[in-house]
Amino acid sequence: MARVDTLCRKTARILVVDDERVSLILMERLLQASGYANIVLIQDPQQFMAIYRQAPTDLILLDIEMPGITGFELIEQLAALQDPLTPPILVLTSLRTRDCRLRALEAGASDFIGKPFDQAEVAARVRNMLDVQLAHRMAHDQKDVLEQIVYERTREIRETRLQVVQRLGRAAEYRDNETGQHILRMSHTSTLLAKHVGWSDEQCEIMLHASPMHDLGKIGIPDSILLKPGPLTPDEWKIMQTHSTIGGDILSGDDSELLKLAREIALSHHEKWDGSGYPLGLVAEEIPESGRIVALADVFDALTSVRPYKPAWDVNAALDWIRTQAGKHFDPRLTEVFLGLVPEILHIRERFADPPV
Ligand code: C2E
Ligand code: SIN
Ligand code: SIN
Ligand code: FE
Ligand code: FE
Repeated sequence: MARVDTLCRKTARILVVDDERVSLILMERLLQASGYANIVLIQDPQQFMAIYRQAPTDLILLDIEMPGITGFELIEQLAALQDPLTPPILVLTSLRTRDCRLRALEAGASDFIGKPFDQAEVAARVRNMLDVQLAHRMAHDQKDVLEQIVYERTREIRETRLQVVQRLGRAAEYRDNETGQHILRMSHTSTLLAKHVGWSDEQCEIMLHASPMHDLGKIGIPDSILLKPGPLTPDEWKIMQTHSTIGGDILSGDDSELLKLAREIALSHHEKWDGSGYPLGLVAEEIPESGRIVALADVFDALTSVRPYKPAWDVNAALDWIRTQAGKHFDPRLTEVFLGLVPEILHIRERFADPPV
């Protein structure tokens, strides 16, 4: 309240509405004597709403009996605005009847000032009402500021998380694919497939950002295996397969939709429809749809790319291979959707082509 006192009370905007000019002048003098400097006098009640809207108002002193429009009606118009910062209303009245006071209170008046005005009463009531209103306004502004800060921070966190996640995906690919274009191609292809099997825009967006992390677990595979120019020994192959579960471990424990999907994909992208995949040997629809989608996009892109252990296949050979794997490696329904999207998939391939060596 000390801050209210020094900062705002003297400059608070006070509207005085009264059809009698003498009353207006008298009230202005009383308020000025108490140090208030921002007083607006309104003699024509029809102009009240327009003037009220011109600037934030902190207190209204309102006559009730006026020609054309009564104080009650003005109170109702104010209430209809449903503004959380509606200022308190002090009704200026010589009507001492209980009915009239009740009606004003019910309409939303905060208190009364009796006519004829008494200097001490005006000073005390105005001061009280202003303190309430100014504190109310400060709390309200503070709330807006806090909400804005929270909103900004949340956005920053979301964006930062997205970037970290994209860089993680890239870090994994750098080990055996120096361009990082593979993850762009396979994530866009996965998203295209997801879209065509009914995923919502929001889920597709998550797919776009989660699928690049499918091979994050390759971080845990030694160079001697990952970068081996030829076929792997059975022991090496066992170690290589652990990239699914290593990725799943790295991505575990977060509750964001993005990391949940990323984990699901890391764990399931090498499962096969016929149950011959790893790490769990899940069969058909036991495999999460995300993993079944990414498997198609990943294998197509791996086949058509150079790897340390193999040359790139041409597109038709890769598509033929995928066709033969429907119902074996891949979900047959998704394979059909994939093959129906070849023009779009080749477009993604061109858009994110590896730079010429
Ligand atoms: P990757 O290179 O990203 O390959 C992803 C998947 O594409 C493979 O999963 C496989 O399903 C398919 N794929 C890639 N190249 C070929 C191929 O020449 N023929 C066929 N039929 N399919 C292919 P997979 O087999 O589970 O392998 C997972 C990862 O293990 C591979 O990821 C790669 O990093 C590594 N890997 C697999 N085989 C070898 C290998 O012979 N030598 C080395 N050094 N690494 C291998
Ligand atoms: C307010 O808090 O907005 C006004 C307080 C009052 O009407 O007394
Ligand atoms: C990603 O890195 O999140 C995937 C694809 C993209 O950014 O376009
Ligand atoms: Fe993989
Ligand atoms: Fe991959």
